[in-house]
Amino acid sequence: MKTEVAIIGGGPSGLLLSQLLNKAGVATVVLERATREHVLSRIRAGVLEAGTVAMLREAGVGDRMAREGIPHHGCYLTDDDLMVRINFEELTGTSVMVYGQTEVTTDLYAAQDAMGATIIHDVEDVVIQDADSSAPYVEYTVSGKRKRLDCAYVAGCDGFHGISRKTIPEDKRREFERVYPFGWLGVLSRTRPAHEELIYANSANGFALASMRNENLSRYYVQVPLTDKVEEWSDARFWTTLKSCLPTEVAASMETGPSIEKSIAPLRSFVSEPLRWGRLFLVGDAAHIVPPTGAKGLNLAVSDVHYLYQALIDAVKTGDTKGIDAYSERALLRIWKAMRFSWQMTTMLHRFDGEDSFAAQMRKATLYHLSQSETARRDLAENYIGLPF
Ligand code: APR
Ligand code: PHB
Repeated sequence: MKTEVAIIGGGPSGLLLSQLLNKAGVATVVLERATREHVLSRIRAGVLEAGTVAMLREAGVGDRMAREGIPHHGCYLTDDDLMVRINFEELTGTSVMVYGQTEVTTDLYAAQDAMGATIIHDVEDVVIQDADSSAPYVEYTVSGKRKRLDCAYVAGCDGFHGISRKTIPEDKRREFERVYPFGWLGVLSRTRPAHEELIYANSANGFALASMRNENLSRYYVQVPLTDKVEEWSDARFWTTLKSCLPTEVAASMETGPSIEKSIAPLRSFVSEPLRWGRLFLVGDAAHIVPPTGAKGLNLAVSDVHYLYQALIDAVKTGDTKGIDAYSERALLRIWKAMRFSWQMTTMLHRFDGEDSFAAQMRKATLYHLSQSETARRDLAENYIGLPF
């Protein structure tokens, strides 16, 4: 088979890239290891930066988001009963959109189907060949048959555990990592959200987050040791711990109920440089991972697509390679800023095992400073709603 851009991975970054390229008349083939149902069954975050909303609209998947998404004009950072509102609208003139990543991925699959796009699921043993030549190709197995896909360029959108990053020779890669000594225990429940806006809570009992999907579907997280198992956490224990981290008045009025999804996710900051090797380009989680505290995971994947899609259109259509030659450097500049913000939010809001009382006081003082300083709130707001592309 032959195409112009072979895309490894049918998650949000692979689908968005394919959609934008197809809209510009560039042919793609998406190779996805899992079934579509499995891809869509993943529970992921749901806060979209203004830039991400604009990119999704440009890709033609803005309608349902506009109907069902919830614009949020602010969020709260709390320290026990101190509640600091970060008023995005007032501080930056912009807001964010609460719309689940699963919904974004569902909309992208529907749009690709409407385009008649080629998405091959259940592929195995994907191997990228000759990426450092002018004629790369991808080999894969589907329904027991070994196949070959010739292409002009390859986009590695296959996440942290994919094969694309590892296709770049180790001596050509530089990796930066910070693994945090705790995880997030997340619960989804058919209950009314604890608050109309997100609450990021720092407390003596550790970190908690009160988020939502819609007015009848809430998403909550509490900080847990990495050694904890989901089975050790009954719903009752979860609600008690969550309430102990949230401001008293919020905890007192919040609705609890049975969890419909419960899982523990580790927290890690990770970047692999460069994002390009020959005709292979890394996008999204294939190249970088952020802890979810800054809500940057999906937004950074979209940011990479923002820098890559026009560059690939120019290269395929006109042979102009200025864009693809600058892709890695341009995308990494924004990646590192989001890395810094996500690391800052994580260290500012989580309790670290073995930390001394001074460290705990520093977190309290940081939140107190936020409550006193409009400049500090504006800095946080600018990073949260998304720095310019
Ligand atoms: N071959 C084909 N497909 C693969 C392979 C492989 N060897 N390895 C992984 N994949 C697929 C996965 O099954 C997954 O559907 O690649 C896709 C990668 O999707 P994501 O992990 O969602 O990564 P990305 O599209 O970059 O989206 C980033 O996802 O994890 C969240 O927080 C993250 O929100 C961010 C977003
Ligand atoms: C979520 O709604 O799942 C969510 C929201 C904000 C975050 C992380 C997760 O920072």
